[in-house]
Amino acid sequence: MTNKLRYFIANWKMYGDLKSLKSIDKVIKFTKLHKKKRFKLVYCPPYTLLHAFSDKLKKSTISIGAQNCHQENEYGAFTGSINAKMIRILGAKFVILGHSENRNDGDTDVIINQKIKSALKQKLNVLFCIGETFSQKKKKLTNKTLKKQISGGLKGLKKNSRIIISYEPVWSIGTGIIPKNIELERNIKFIKAEVKKQIKLKKVTVLYGGSVNLKNILTLNMIASIDGYLIGGASQKAKNLIDIIKKTYN
Ligand code: PGA
Repeated sequence: MTNKLRYFIANWKMYGDLKSLKSIDKVIKFTKLHKKKRFKLVYCPPYTLLHAFSDKLKKSTISIGAQNCHQENEYGAFTGSINAKMIRILGAKFVILGHSENRNDGDTDVIINQKIKSALKQKLNVLFCIGETFSQKKKKLTNKTLKKQISGGLKGLKKNSRIIISYEPVWSIGTGIIPKNIELERNIKFIKAEVKKQIKLKKVTVLYGGSVNLKNILTLNMIASIDGYLIGGASQKAKNLIDIIKKTYN
């Protein structure tokens, strides 16, 4: 049992259409009934649903986030892109940046750093994703990788409490495999120390992401240093998401 503030970030990735909004009713009802529990729920639907989600969640305690944004702060000739200002105007309070799926698509530490700066300028909360691949883990390069991603992504940034780190080992995303608690504890401790060094924050918020589901949530909840979860697949069904939160707080 806990009443520690925990974040639950529902990352819908490239899933969902207007019909999916109906399923959110259950979640809105659930959050109303559990106002006293200290969780913060954030829906990150695809760009196409941001406006509809904003409308729907206007009167609720649930926030909206985008899954990415362009690094350019001003409007400009960037076909197919959306910047931080545009998502903020649509009602987003959060943005996921540095996700491994976007790193795979070409987002470098430098680009991610520019995106983070642009998002902070718009007063968005940044969910900054970092994590090692399986081959980096096998080669014992986890710390080196995390350190590089942290120093690159947060370069030039001063104390900023709007930065939330999401530790997502790439080999855990969508695989059903999560790290052992001892490994997670060690890596989260390392991340907190590195981020503190870099941006001089007193308290660093670190979420875990990668195959969080109903089966493993109790095991993950045993780790006191985890401040919440970034949930992909398991967040798309309202019942699953509600049950994950319930298991954390009951
Ligand atoms: P998953 O995705 O929960 O489906 O593993 C997590 C993520 O990529 O953010």
